[in-house]
Amino acid sequence: MTTAPLPAAPWWRPHPGRTLAIRGGTPLVGTYPISGAKNAVLPLMVSALLTPHLVTLHNVPATLDVAVLASLLQGLGCEMNWSPTSAGLSLTISADKVRPRSVDPDLVTRMRASVLLLGALLARCGEARLPLPGGDAIGLRGIDFHIAGLRAMGATVDLEAGVIHATAPHGLRGAEILLPMPSVGATENLLLAAVLARGTTIIRNAALEPEIADLALCLTGMGARIGGIGSHILTIEGGLPLAGTIHAVLPDRIEFGTLACATAITDGELFLAHSRIDLLGAASASFAAAGVDLSEMDGGVMARRAKGSLNGIDVTTGPYPEFATDLQAPVMALLTRARGASAITETIFEHRFHHVGELRKMGANISVMGRTALVRGVDRLDGAAVTCTDIRAAAALVVAALGGTGKTTLDGLDHLDRGYDNMQEKLAACGANVVRSDTDR
Ligand code: UD1
Repeated sequence: MTTAPLPAAPWWRPHPGRTLAIRGGTPLVGTYPISGAKNAVLPLMVSALLTPHLVTLHNVPATLDVAVLASLLQGLGCEMNWSPTSAGLSLTISADKVRPRSVDPDLVTRMRASVLLLGALLARCGEARLPLPGGDAIGLRGIDFHIAGLRAMGATVDLEAGVIHATAPHGLRGAEILLPMPSVGATENLLLAAVLARGTTIIRNAALEPEIADLALCLTGMGARIGGIGSHILTIEGGLPLAGTIHAVLPDRIEFGTLACATAITDGELFLAHSRIDLLGAASASFAAAGVDLSEMDGGVMARRAKGSLNGIDVTTGPYPEFATDLQAPVMALLTRARGASAITETIFEHRFHHVGELRKMGANISVMGRTALVRGVDRLDGAAVTCTDIRAAAALVVAALGGTGKTTLDGLDHLDRGYDNMQEKLAACGANVVRSDTDR
């Protein structure tokens, strides 16, 4: 549990409770505001390192990962200015005095996205020193594509005693890079580096996730020249000095999908403000097939269960626009209550079924064979004491608890706080019975 305050993000108040108690069975009703995307805001914050001018981000979600990255940036000499607005936080970053100092390893190891500092620092300062990043324990999650790409751009990269040391004293140069698979983080890291590298960089097999296009749009707002945004081939004419910019963070499609699951499992009706169906990619067809009705309205999406019961469906995760691996766990929680069987195959991360054991404690009928989980729908889920093991496992347990009977208590809440902006308060405002406290189970 994170109890220490993070001075670079004064709005971050470590939540007082170790456990979240959810009494299920109440339909969620009302409006749930979807925040800016966690996976978009992190690279956007890092993009501020590329310029001495001010970068202002609107619609910043109040999550632990944002607070941790703000602390890392402050440690590198950035100044942060926060202001609360009706649409999330606004953050202005000045990286005028950035230096490639050593950063706090405790902060770096809290999230994998800290690896994005590598490309930006190297491009701006010619040097970066970073402990190996951490993050959810859901797979090997190597950073070999990141390193190979930076080396192709002329960097020297060494790993010593768990610390990555990268140098490019004469600056980075453009290169042609073919990613072995469309890695989200590697595409972002190399894009951040390429905008300041001299000459042209071509990134082939770039990832298509909407958060990458959001980053590219922010960078073009700073004056970068990027062709092929939204495609598998990004062409960057680098080396131009970058200006400051003002950018609003894309809505969080994973928070949106998670809340669609929560609405359907409780048979409620929620207006998911600021969300957009097009951001779901293939998941929107999966929701329709499972019996989750999503209709786009002015300013958001109305979610409800379609007439009749939920249906079992088969799902295979893949790179965008295929079904998002980050929705696999919450959708599995939903399908535990569907009629019939569902086969859920995870292709992105090797160990992304930690939630299965916890869902079973609640009475779910799930068996795992290799990378596929077979879910047979049950009539009810019962309250239980469960543990969150990663961000999306936490989301799955919240969905199951809301749709369950009786009281479920969740611990390991840091994971929920990392990725979900004020989830407890937002759920309570929609009628959920959720209490966070230090009471033992
Ligand atoms: C990002 C998201 C995460 C999401 C994932 C896939 C952020 C902050 N995180 O993670 O929520 O689940 O995309 O959509 O945006 N790989 C390598 N070598 C590398 C890079 C990746 O082997 O150098 C492998 C990984 O181990 C993994 C796969 O490629 O199996 C996909 O990883 P990647 O797309 O890079 O995910 P992240 O950027 O870590």
